[in-house]
Amino acid sequence: MKAPALAGMLEEIRWGLSRPQKQLPSKYFYDTRGSELFEAITELPEYYPTRTETSLLKTQVAGWVTEMAPASLVELGAGSARKTRILLAAMGHGISERADQRTNQRTNQRTYAPVDVAGDFLRATAESLRVEDPSLDVRPQVRDITWDLDFVDELPTPVLFALLGSTIGNFAGEAAGELLSNVRSAMRENDLFLVGADLRPGAGKSIERLEAAYNDAQGVTADFNLNMLRALNRDAGTDFDLTAFRHRAFYDEGEGRIEMHLVAETDQEVQVPGAGVVQIGEGESIRTELSCKYDRSVLTGLFEAASLGIVKWCTDEDGLYAMALVSPT
Ligand code: SAH
Ligand code: AVI
Repeated sequence: MKAPALAGMLEEIRWGLSRPQKQLPSKYFYDTRGSELFEAITELPEYYPTRTETSLLKTQVAGWVTEMAPASLVELGAGSARKTRILLAAMGHGISERADQRTNQRTNQRTYAPVDVAGDFLRATAESLRVEDPSLDVRPQVRDITWDLDFVDELPTPVLFALLGSTIGNFAGEAAGELLSNVRSAMRENDLFLVGADLRPGAGKSIERLEAAYNDAQGVTADFNLNMLRALNRDAGTDFDLTAFRHRAFYDEGEGRIEMHLVAETDQEVQVPGAGVVQIGEGESIRTELSCKYDRSVLTGLFEAASLGIVKWCTDEDGLYAMALVSPT
């Protein structure tokens, strides 16, 4: 890791572990092993968001994308981009239709710019896409999605931005608004932004079902959670004892969010470079992730605050998950 990146990482760790509720940023789940564990989570019977979003992408969103006919797709937190193939195929349909109806001179050239902090995993995703579709111009961006998205200025327009998987939910409180405003600043008039969001419990969704998605029977989510400590020991030089923490995830109804924690089974002393020893008492926890759940009005408020407005909206029959297409207002 380069020195400035390491310094920033250590600063975030030191800050998080000095809070009354100890916390670590969820982006540090995603080293290569963490990205693979997340992929395994998406296949679990309990983890309904990925399956539900895939179905909505095929049945509803593909039509919206074909209608828009974007020349570029910018995907924030792309991961393996498995579901993205549905969007890329839909983009292709739109562009060839437009070429037929007008001059016949347009190519069906599409540009795909996946953005992710997981560099090796992102490069592997980009390579598979190039092999699958040599006509696709793939431009991976290894960076934090909260940073300036200046690379978008170089892309053919119109641009469709996408934030799938309910990753918006991992940006709690002001962070969600800041992320949306960051995307809004990179958008031009005819661009659109597609957001997938996990919904709050309701008629077709019990709290038990929601909590089970984060407490799977096979323990994959627990491995994913603990893997963050392994990644920090390797990349930041901490010395967390992985055997001394257990996974805990629960739904906070008042806040409308899942919280994931690592709970110390016994008193722990952890070396944090630049901060000395951090004490973690028996039963004390480090919060590793917030996963906010939404309803249409909460999302509308977040979008409006970022000068974005919903132009299309859909949910599945059980009200598990929603997709919103938004445009600049
Ligand atoms: N979009 C995929 C993957 C979701 S997992 C899906 O829907 O299945 C969340 C992804 O976002 C991971 O690949 C992770 O590395 C990335 N990510 C998380 N926080 C990030 C940040 N701050 N900046 C860039 N990428 C981030
Ligand atoms: C990527 N993100 C939206 C997932 C979520 O559901 O919050 C990450 C995850 N954490 C535990 N399981 C999956």
